[in-house]
Parts: sequence; structure tokens; C-alpha cells
Amino acid sequence: MTDSSKNPALRGAGAIACIVAAGIVWSLMYAQRILWSTNVVTPVLFDHGLSAVELHAPKGWTNEWCGSCHQKEFEQWHNSKHAAAGSNTNFEAQFLEAAGGRAQWCLNCHAPANYGASNHASMEPKEIDNLFVARPAWLTSGVDCLSCHVRDGQVLGTNVTTPGQAAHPMREAPELSTAEFCGGCHQFAHKPRQFPDSFRGRLQQASLIELVEQNRVSGDALRCHDCHLPAGSHTMSGGYDRELVRDALGLTLAASWQPELNAIQLVVAVSVQGVGHRVPGGEHFFRYLSIRTTLHDASGNVVTPRKQSSGAVDVTPAARPLVVGELPHVEEIRKRLGDFERGTESGVSPTPDTRLNPNETREFVYLVPLVQADIGKSLKASTTLWYHVLDPEEAKRFHLSTEGLSWKLHRVMSEVVTDTKAVQKTNVNR
Ligand code: HEC
Ligand code: HEC
Ligand code: HEC
Ligand code: HEC
Ligand code: HEC
Repeated sequence: MTDSSKNPALRGAGAIACIVAAGIVWSLMYAQRILWSTNVVTPVLFDHGLSAVELHAPKGWTNEWCGSCHQKEFEQWHNSKHAAAGSNTNFEAQFLEAAGGRAQWCLNCHAPANYGASNHASMEPKEIDNLFVARPAWLTSGVDCLSCHVRDGQVLGTNVTTPGQAAHPMREAPELSTAEFCGGCHQFAHKPRQFPDSFRGRLQQASLIELVEQNRVSGDALRCHDCHLPAGSHTMSGGYDRELVRDALGLTLAASWQPELNAIQLVVAVSVQGVGHRVPGGEHFFRYLSIRTTLHDASGNVVTPRKQSSGAVDVTPAARPLVVGELPHVEEIRKRLGDFERGTESGVSPTPDTRLNPNETREFVYLVPLVQADIGKSLKASTTLWYHVLDPEEAKRFHLSTEGLSWKLHRVMSEVVTDTKAVQKTNVNR
């Protein structure tokens, strides 16, 4: 036996070992703090992209094979965004970009039946640059029948029957009909490169937690399925379904002449109905709404508001209209992801989240002071609600085109006759 206290070399080694051990303990604590930093909901079948799924599907089980008996589901899925999740051009561009992609975890949600089961979520997939040339079936079928319905060589269903068992081995999987199942991919935060099993910052998609909150407030027990899988439809449409988004939103406009202010007051109201989460739902980086409001004269020219020196318009504090200095006036309704949300910098403030709440009606009150020449005319007010699936700034970052990715949901108009008599009276009084 050696007595280390009598040997200076061994004593030195002991001190180094102590420092190394302390370092290890510190890094473990640090790693654990990071692991705890974002609270993700218990996953069901999918773990927010942290791993690829292992199907162990028997030979010959392809989506086309499933479709040979389940034609309706196949047709609906085939035309869905889920089927295109691995091969759509927006995904391809962002996935190949060093700045925001090139990680296994993208594939784990967009094409879960990929080959990367042995890859950590933060690793770069093998032969990534050849992927969209080789286009393997697991990539081009995206989020497919097998990813959602097959595990351990069995078909997962909520209704296991004898004919079903005869067609293929089956397992009862009640979790398929829960919102948490969708949340396994539709809810996640930001992924640091260094830690394979962790997230940081605020949620980048938060469909599930927003639905849970809405159910708590309303007392409902809605699931994603009630709205996105009506009658079991596998189209599971969302933002790209213009009618779905249009029907979920309402827009009104009221224009009135305010003689005592020589101004037109515009009240624009946008309302939400039949949505279980905040609007616009889905990906915070990309989707947003905008409302464009303007005034035209009879010959179609946009009205130029009268310049206001501050405090010139004496408005009642209760109404608090926004005095508009320029037309058209644009509002954006969105959640931006800044350094606080990404969890990359301390001491920064959260970015405001202006998305609409379920069932909310939000009013914007504007005051447009008129120049003398426009008073006495009949003017046309109009407001347009736009939906944008791809934010132009994000598009630029990933060299994507935004063409055709913004559309009008609603347009409302209102005519206002400005009253010269009332104006004269006000002018005289001044
Ligand atoms: C994104 C995951 C997902 C994908 C992809 C998917 N399914 Fe489903 N499937 C579900 C869910 C969720 C249900 C409903 C479970 C419930 O609540 O009963 C379901 C239900 C079904 C049912 C039961 C009958 C019905 O329509 O409600 C069949 C059959 C079915 N799927 C077949 C398929 C086939 C075939 C494919 C591929 C063409 C497919 N599914 C792709 C998630 C998926
Ligand atoms: C040879 C025809 C056939 C093929 C191929 C087939 N199925 Fe089925 N499947 C059936 C039959 C029959 C049932 C039972 C339907 C019933 O009881 O009404 C069934 C039941 C199901 C159910 C349960 C339906 C429910 O109401 O919950 C799911 C989910 C399902 N299949 C998915 C798949 C998937 C995914 C594939 C491909 C991996 C597949 N099936 C391939 C014939 C087939
Ligand atoms: C395996 C991961 C995964 C699961 C599970 C999953 N999704 Fe998706 N979903 C995606 C991905 C990835 C996209 C984006 C596809 C794209 O546009 O590239 C998507 C897109 C969507 C969209 C947007 C479609 C559109 O038209 O823009 C809706 C709605 C949707 N999913 C609903 C659901 C619902 C409801 C469930 C649960 C029944 C579900 N998803 C389960 C990964 C998943
Ligand atoms: C009460 C009905 C309802 C419920 C419940 C609901 N949604 Fe939605 N969802 C909608 C409507 C309507 C839209 C279109 C408006 C919008 O974009 O917010 C939408 C939009 C979406 C989008 C945006 C699609 C896109 O392309 O950006 C996604 C993703 C989505 N929902 C997923 C989910 C998931 C996941 C759940 C469950 C956790 C869920 N939704 C629950 C009605 C609902
Ligand atoms: C936890 C699951 C998950 C992970 C991980 C994930 N995504 Fe997604 N992604 C989704 C879902 C769900 C949607 C659909 C949201 C919606 O429709 O608003 C989506 C939407 C997108 C879209 C928009 C598609 C379109 O055309 O509108 C792009 C692009 C995209 N993801 C790229 C990526 C890239 C690149 C990565 C890796 C850095 C990644 N995603 C990681 C789940 C995921």
C-alpha cells in the first residue's frame, strides 16, 4: 500500500484528480440545469424530435400497401402537408442551410422513419447533401402511415377488431386519440447543438400547451382531432387551407366623421372563432397576420392625413385612438422569437406576443386627421386582413421565395361623408 501524503508526485496527482472531479461534477450540474430549463410535456409516441422512431415493420409494409385497403385515408394523407413534410422545398432549403438546419432532429419530425436511429438529435445526418438527390422513400413520404401507426411490427389503432387482427397484427393504442400525440411533434423549443437531449428558451411551437390553457379557461375538453381530423380525415389541414383560416377569422370596419376633431375615426375589429390555440397557430418563425387599413377619395387616391403636432388632437383617454400619420396603416399580429425566446442571451426582454387568443375580438381605433381639401368630400375606408405563411425576413435568411405565400382573407369597406357645416362651426369656434 502507498501512502500518497509522503510522495509529492502522488500528492500533485491527487490534487489534479480533485480538480478534474470537481470539473466533472460542475459540468453535470450545468448539463442538468440546461435539461431542466425547458419543461416539455410527456411525449406520446414522439419525443419532440429527440430521436428517430424505430418501426420494426415487417417486410412489405409500405404506405402504398396500407393504402391498398385503406384507400380513403391514403388519398387524404397523400394530399396532406404531412406527406410532404420531408420533401417540401421550404423544408429542403432550411434543412440544408448551415445557419438553421443540418441536424438529425429536423428529420425526426419531418420524416420520422429515417435511418438515423443511432444518431444524436444534434448530429449532422449522413450524406446530407445527397439526400434530396437520392430521395429515399422515407424522406419523400414525410410523416407517413408507418410513422404514426406502426411500432414493434404491429399496427396501432384505437379500435382493434377481429377483421383488423386478421389483416395485420394490431395493438390497442388509445394514445393516438390524445392531443399529446400531436404535441409529440407540434410542441418544442430551441435546440442547442451541444446537448443532444435538451432544449432551451421558450417554445417555438406551443399548440399543445395553448390548447390545454384554452380548455382550462373554457371548461371544454377539445383535442386537436376535433378540428383537424373531422370524421377521421387524414388531410389534417392548417395554414395552407385558405378556407379554414378564413372561416376562423372575422373582420369588421366602422368609419365615422368626427367634426370636432376634423378627423375620421376608424374602428377595425378582428375576431377569432373555433380555434383551440392562439392565432396564427403553428410555427412562430413563419406565420403571421397583418391588417392594412386605408382611406381613398372618389378618384381612388390614397388620403394623406393632416400632420399633427403632438397633443393637437384632444381625445378622451377612454377611447385612446391611435392618431395615424400615414396611410395605409399596417398592424402585425404575430409572435417573434428574439434572443430571450431563443434562450441565447441573458438580460434581454421578452418580445411581445401579439397573436390572438381563442375567441378573442380585438379592436383597433384609429383617428385620421384630414387636410382642409379633403373635408366635405365623401371618402372610402377599407381594411384588409392578410395571412402570411412565410415571414419575408425568415425567407431571406434561408433564400426562400415568398411568392404566393400571402393571401387576403377578408376585405371590408365603408363610406364616410365628411360634414362641412360641422367643420365650419368648429373652425369658427377656434
Ligand atoms: C400524423 C399521424 C398520422 C398519419 C400520418 C396517419 N394516421 Fe391514421 N390515424 C391517426 C390518428 C390520430 C387517428 C385517429 C385515432 C382516433 O382518435 O381514433 C387515425 C386513424 C386511422 C384509422 C382509423 C379510421 C379512421 O379513419 O379514423 C385508419 C384506418 C388509419 N388511421 C389509417 C391510416 C393510413 C392508411 C395512413 C397512411 C395513408 C395513416 N393512417 C396516416 C394518425 C395518423
Ligand atoms: C389487406 C388489407 C389491409 C391492409 C394492407 C392494411 N389494413 Fe389496416 N385494417 C384492415 C382491416 C380489414 C381492418 C379492420 C377494419 C374494421 O374492423 O372495420 C383494419 C384496421 C386498421 C386500423 C384500425 C382502425 C380503427 O378503427 O381503429 C388501423 C389504424 C389500420 N388498419 C392501419 C393500417 C396501416 C397503417 C396499414 C399499413 C401498415 C394497414 N392498416 C394495412 C385491412 C388492412
Ligand atoms: C411525426 C411528427 C408529427 C406528428 C405526430 C403530427 N404532426 Fe402535424 N405536422 C408535422 C410536420 C413536420 C408538419 C409540417 C409539414 C410541412 O408543411 O412541411 C405538420 C403539419 C401539420 C399541420 C399544418 C398543415 C397545413 O396545412 O399547414 C396540421 C394542422 C397538423 N400537422 C396537425 C396535426 C395533428 C392534428 C396531429 C395529431 C393527430 C399531428 N399533426 C401529428 C409533424 C407531425
Ligand atoms: C377548436 C378547433 C381547433 C383545435 C382544438 C386545434 N386547432 Fe389547430 N387550428 C385550428 C384552426 C381553425 C386553424 C387555422 C387558424 C390558425 O392558423 O391559427 C388552426 C391552425 C393550426 C396550425 C397552423 C397551421 C399552419 O400551417 O401554420 C397548426 C400546426 C395546428 N393548428 C395544430 C394544432 C394542434 C397540434 C392542435 C392540438 C394540440 C390543434 N391545432 C388544436 C383549429 C383548431
Ligand atoms: C419537434 C418536431 C419538429 C422539429 C424537431 C422540427 N420541425 Fe419543422 N415543423 C414542425 C411542425 C409541426 C411544423 C408545422 C407547423 C405549422 O404548420 O405551422 C413544421 C414546419 C416547418 C417548416 C415550414 C414548412 C412550410 O412550408 O410552411 C419548415 C421550413 C421547417 N419546419 C423546417 C425545419 C428544420 C430545418 C428543422 C431542423 C432545424 C425542423 N423543422 C425541426 C415540427 C418540427
